[in-house]
Amino acid sequence: MRKAVASAPGKVNLVLRSGAQGDDGYHQLLSVFEAVSLREYVLARTRRAPGIGVTTIGYRLPEFGRGNPEPSEELTKEYSRIPSEEHLAVRAAKVLQPLVAAKWGPTASGMELTVHKTIPAAGGMAGGSADAAATLVAVNELWELGLTRDQLESVGRTLGADVPACVRGGWSVGEGRGDVLEELAPVDAGPAHWWALAFSKEGLSTPAVFNQFDLMGLGSSQLPPAADYVAAKSSFTGPRVGEFFENDLAAPALALRPDLQKVGESAAGAGALAWMISGSGPTIAALAESPERAAQICETWEAERRAGENSLLGESVAWGPDVGARVEEDLPEWAAGRGE
Ligand code: C5P
Repeated sequence: MRKAVASAPGKVNLVLRSGAQGDDGYHQLLSVFEAVSLREYVLARTRRAPGIGVTTIGYRLPEFGRGNPEPSEELTKEYSRIPSEEHLAVRAAKVLQPLVAAKWGPTASGMELTVHKTIPAAGGMAGGSADAAATLVAVNELWELGLTRDQLESVGRTLGADVPACVRGGWSVGEGRGDVLEELAPVDAGPAHWWALAFSKEGLSTPAVFNQFDLMGLGSSQLPPAADYVAAKSSFTGPRVGEFFENDLAAPALALRPDLQKVGESAAGAGALAWMISGSGPTIAALAESPERAAQICETWEAERRAGENSLLGESVAWGPDVGARVEEDLPEWAAGRGE
């Protein structure tokens, strides 16, 4: 049995502009992505039996970003209910399986995936897309397929609109469905921005938020070109990025979840430079000037959670931009051996 490990980042959208719905059911988007330091890890192993097996271990993020993710039986149970054919990691492996069969023979292409999931599902941070991105990289490594990053992004595009951004990492601008990427700025991974993240108990489905967006008659008739954002990249890479936050999905997300407004306002009261809904929500991302300030914002949310004043699942600190999907030598020690 051979094995390979890969990881991929979640994201926040610094800008998310949406046009009206097109004939294919998708909306034209203009999105500025920042990959963040919450990462999904995937272990891929060969197995004798054909097909693709998957085990997903759910983790709770450490409070205030201090310490390691903690395995959660509740989340693990919840993820075990995802039908295998809908699991983005399985779908990603399946897309590459014909290449595996062509290279190694059709009877040798069975694999077993273990997904170590720290990014909450249906949270607006591309957790599922990061699972797909990490799986593409792990399977490429496991079977020595030799696909380039560009090729993996192209494959990723067929799996979901956010997958290419998770493969690429750093800062990027997405057009089309949000999946046709242009680099905003090259990235030396490291914390240019600090984030306090508030995760909701209940997720929001992306199609439901887009549906609400349509019901509200929103949708710019003309989106600015990606080149405008590339030209203004220093606005997004610098400390004043909060002044440039824009999210067309915030209004429909808040219409579905009016309680999130107060979560954002609490962050502002605790010293956030700015706050926003991440992607289609419901995660709230508050920008902080330092990791200490981000932790203070989390402490404020936590106190409110314990007093029953919000319906959060938990809160954590992250930074961006982080690197894209990559091969890892091994699983981090908090994940090693679990689910195998
Ligand atoms: O591409 P992905 O599967 O992540 O998209 C999930 C859903 O979000 C789509 O089925 C669609 O309803 C909505 N969506 C959209 N326009 C986009 C991206 C996603 O309407 N550009």
